[in-house]
Amino acid sequence: MRYRLLGPSGLRVSELCLGTMTFGEDWGWGADKATSQQIFSRFAEAGGNFIDTSNNYTNGTSERYVGECIAAERDRYVVATKYTLRLDSSNPADINNGGNSRKSMLRSVENSLRRLNTDYVDLLYLHMWDFTTPLVEVMQAANQLIAAGKVLYFAFSDTPAWVVSHALGLAEAHGWARPVALQLPYSLRSRDVERAEIPMANTHQLAVLAWGVLGGGVLTGKYSQPDDRPRRESDVAAPDIALGEAVMAIARASGRSPAQVAINWVRQQPGNIIPILGCRSLAQLDDNLGCLDVVLSPDHLDQLGAIAPFTLGFPYRFLHSAHVRKLIFGETFALLDR
Ligand SMILES: NC(=O)c1ccc[n+]([C@@H]2O[C@H](COP(=O)([O-])OP(=O)(O)OC[C@H]3O[C@@H](n4cnc5c(N)ncnc54)[C@H](OP(=O)(O)O)[C@@H]3O)[C@@H](O)[C@H]2O)c1
Repeated sequence: MRYRLLGPSGLRVSELCLGTMTFGEDWGWGADKATSQQIFSRFAEAGGNFIDTSNNYTNGTSERYVGECIAAERDRYVVATKYTLRLDSSNPADINNGGNSRKSMLRSVENSLRRLNTDYVDLLYLHMWDFTTPLVEVMQAANQLIAAGKVLYFAFSDTPAWVVSHALGLAEAHGWARPVALQLPYSLRSRDVERAEIPMANTHQLAVLAWGVLGGGVLTGKYSQPDDRPRRESDVAAPDIALGEAVMAIARASGRSPAQVAINWVRQQPGNIIPILGCRSLAQLDDNLGCLDVVLSPDHLDQLGAIAPFTLGFPYRFLHSAHVRKLIFGETFALLDR
């Protein structure tokens, strides 16, 4: 395992992050407590120090298990949690439960600290942008938690590029702690973030935490084979099954497992990208950790890109077209070092 800085911060994190949405059986497709602890220990033995959870994962069980796993060596770990989503057990009529507001953030963090049995979280994410809360309120509240020492760094997850870049501008203008990372769905099954979110993150040196790198397991090709073992998805569309089969074919050609190929396609894209591993068993974790000694050839990267094509759409396709280039640069485009 190697380490890198978390975006523009001085925080040192492992090049793989351990996702813990599978810690606990509350949602029907996770691991029991003993298996969750084994997964955590194996990740730590491999050198992993970066752990991802959320206030709502498995209705709070994930944070409780993580709290037990880190207890003996709390400071060794970089623990990230999130606020925004309601717990299943919360009162459905409670209108301020959930969302991006200051009230939601402060209450959620207090509850997370209790479940994690710690007095600080290393990284707090706004989990999902709610399109209603003023961004200034979010940034002030995050800085309040940072000043109180309850949160060390702040970041966004599942938030449009324009919101995050506005937050960066606010932080700079007010001298506030700036967001350090952006957590996004990114895989051969989900490339939408290549349009705006990843270029924005790379421009501002934010770390990109990629979730769903195996497309929920679909990219391992297992949905095209009969298998009695429990799986997360019940109904996978034919194009996604074909995508899994194509990854399997390249895995066979490169002598690696499909999971290692799918994870490395993400790892080898430009930027400070850290995949979040999701596993429900030790065998899956071992397979996935094997990605650390894989380097996909340019040919295999091209083949993988070609099986998961996507279109940039407006404005990118328009602005990158030969027609517009000629309108802007005339015959000089090729002469310019960009
Ligand atoms: N910010 C967000 O909105 C957000 C959303 C989702 C997740 N996350 C974070 O990202 C983490 C990972 O997300 P994810 O679980 O969706 O990732 P994923 O890697 O796409 O899917 C993980 C699932 O794939 C299957 N799997 C894993 N390794 C495998 C292997 N080697 N061979 C075959 N199957 C394998 C397992 O499911 P089965 O055994 O059930 O098939 C496992 O639960 C989460 O734990 C969470 O921390 C964040």
